[in-house]
Amino acid sequence: MSALIDSPAWKKLSAHKETIEKLHMRALFADNAERFEDFCLQAGPLFLDYSKNLMTDETMSLLFDLAKQEKLEHYRDAMFSGQEINFTEHRSVLHTALRGQSADPIMSQGKDVKPEIDAVLKKMKNFSEQIRKGKWLGYSGKEITDVVNIGIGGSDLGPKMVIHALKPFVTRKINMHFVSNLDGSQIAETISELSPETTLFIISSKSFTTSETMFNAVTARGWFVSRVKNKEFIKKHFVAVSTNIEAVQKFGIDKHNIFEFWDWVGGRYSLWSAIGLSIAIAIGMGRFKELLEGAANMDEHFSSAPLEENMPVILAMMGIWHNNFFAIHTQAFMAYDHYLSLFPSYLQQLDMESNGKHVNRDGEKVDYCTGPIIWGEQGINGQHAFYQLLHQGTQPIPCDFLIALDSYNPACGHHPVLMSNFFAQSEALMLGKTEAEARQEMNAEGLSEDEIELLLPHKVFEGNRSSNSILFKELDPHTLGALIALYEHKVFVQGIIWRINSFDQWGVQLGKQLANQIQFDLVDDKPVSKHDSSTNGLINYYKRYRSIEGNKLLSSNNDWSSLQKIMEHEFK
Ligand code: F6P
Repeated sequence: MSALIDSPAWKKLSAHKETIEKLHMRALFADNAERFEDFCLQAGPLFLDYSKNLMTDETMSLLFDLAKQEKLEHYRDAMFSGQEINFTEHRSVLHTALRGQSADPIMSQGKDVKPEIDAVLKKMKNFSEQIRKGKWLGYSGKEITDVVNIGIGGSDLGPKMVIHALKPFVTRKINMHFVSNLDGSQIAETISELSPETTLFIISSKSFTTSETMFNAVTARGWFVSRVKNKEFIKKHFVAVSTNIEAVQKFGIDKHNIFEFWDWVGGRYSLWSAIGLSIAIAIGMGRFKELLEGAANMDEHFSSAPLEENMPVILAMMGIWHNNFFAIHTQAFMAYDHYLSLFPSYLQQLDMESNGKHVNRDGEKVDYCTGPIIWGEQGINGQHAFYQLLHQGTQPIPCDFLIALDSYNPACGHHPVLMSNFFAQSEALMLGKTEAEARQEMNAEGLSEDEIELLLPHKVFEGNRSSNSILFKELDPHTLGALIALYEHKVFVQGIIWRINSFDQWGVQLGKQLANQIQFDLVDDKPVSKHDSSTNGLINYYKRYRSIEGNKLLSSNNDWSSLQKIMEHEFK
């Protein structure tokens, strides 16, 4: 048994679970008229109701004891003060510094990072304003009408989600595009609509070695140069956001067009950095700063509120309760908001790349579950797709429901109905429907006794299914900043409780390494035998197909030879 499972706070929670699991939330609400007031809180623009979770005061107090036992406050302060808590990569974790509102120095490895942050923000402001005001002109003197962000993972999901979420604030003068997929169809479809005269490419990559991004960048550069016939024009149409200045320059991007960030910003925490350049262009630097301020306010709340009144801590500990004591290893996010439709996929990377870890800080294999499976959808669409399983499936799934009190499009009059669906779902999950209620309902409908007996088991809902509800006035930049930071800190807290490093991502390396090797296996048509029989079989199936089909992909009029060159010279 690990030290964590054997620890006093964990053992108390395990024992406590035995009594709690026999309770139904219906009874908890019936016994305490103040349950809602007891288990809700406001932090900045966000209101959280967590009363519809199977827990009591005692549960919460034991969960906070666990957080204290695991020295949460110590690690939190270590993160904010720039200590190298990402010890497997020897890095500080300072995305919070990017949005810090105080002028005080923030140190990483003995250096104040504040002046560099301010300088990049200033550069972002100048550049984004030039683009927005039509002062940055393309090679033929025309204004930029289309911006293509090429990046993947944290260099794509964050800016893409934010720009979608803040669409009411986005300029309609510039079209924003995102390309991440190595499948050439995405870049091909994107550039097919564009003119090189009026397009700006932002190559966003922390490492500037990620092959998906590099392939797309090379394709974009090839498309551009083949049309404008002059490499000099690249500097009017390509900028880069990266920590790897040397590689950016090698790629051919002008040094003045580089927006720097630093290795103490994790990829999935990078939208606050220059990776947010596309956001600044889309919504303007003033609004981008509001996004930063919203996040900074949540940082302030997280670092100063007592654990018992600390929103990220409460959400995190509810998750631990479900995952580790009720063996529910999944968590869903249901946004009742069209603009938040990309939020679940953003959260997937944030949570699963951070906490999908199997060893603790001492390198020992853990004997408890760490990061849950994160997924979600827009609530209303989900209701007509998979909510059946949420209500009557055999696997309970805790949900976070999110909604804005005000709609940006109130004229169509849908919002009160949307709100009623939002309220109804968490109520239904919690209450369920008893046999007596189902019988009474069918009686009232005038069904025969035989029909009632047939339908009764199918109409019963067990209920007692947990959810959190998060409400906010409107989805403006400030609120969105706070919301994202809320979940960043929730993920951090859970990582501390699980004693893992939430800030590395070694787990994505093996697939990358193998793909790099297999690329070379595909260069000719000779059968391969060095892999397992399944992988050999799949590769050889593909090679056979390719040769039977007349070597379509290897024909001289395609890009294969240039791709080979890229692989050999740029990525080796
Ligand atoms: O492969 C995972 C990952 O390293 C993510 O952590 C990161 O956000 C993404 O790839 C993109 O990396 P980069 O910005 O260096 O291209």
